[in-house]
Amino acid sequence: MKLLVLLGGAVLAILSFAALAATELHEPERGAMKILGPEEVSFKNDVQPILHDYCVSCHSVGGKGHTKSGLDLTSYDGLMKGTKYGPVVIPGNSEVSTFTKLLTGTNKGLKMPMGLNSAGTLDRQYILILRKWVAQGARNN
Ligand code: HEC
Repeated sequence: MKLLVLLGGAVLAILSFAALAATELHEPERGAMKILGPEEVSFKNDVQPILHDYCVSCHSVGGKGHTKSGLDLTSYDGLMKGTKYGPVVIPGNSEVSTFTKLLTGTNKGLKMPMGLNSAGTLDRQYILILRKWVAQGARNN
């Protein structure tokens, strides 16, 4: 019995070391830390390059995202116009904006960018930039 308790203790100790190591691995990246700061996010310099790299292939004329939803992500006006059903950006609120909501897959199972990789999620740093831009008022800055 004593031996079992000792063994249990040893296992617990190993597990908590493993947990510690895991938290260290998940520390925010430097860029993400910068993004969490108070600086203003720019549509032109910060948001548009992400849309260009991860969204425009489908969300421009002829792409399947544009064909299906009508959402054109090649310009500020296109993004603010939204889909054929209406706006996807609610300035000041990244929690209710479809644009930022479906980056983490919380909108009726739809997740963007569609079919990205096995995890299916945009780099956390990019998600933070897009959310912050919406939270700061989604301006054409
Ligand atoms: C591989 C193609 C593809 C890529 C890349 C892609 N999308 Fe889409 N997107 C689609 C398709 C297809 C739809 C229509 C889905 C539907 O209505 O079932 C869509 C719909 C949407 C919608 C509207 C959802 C709704 O509720 O009507 C938003 C917002 C959106 N995409 C944002 C993005 C953003 C932001 C990116 C880049 C981070 C992105 N998409 C990248 C294919 C794509």
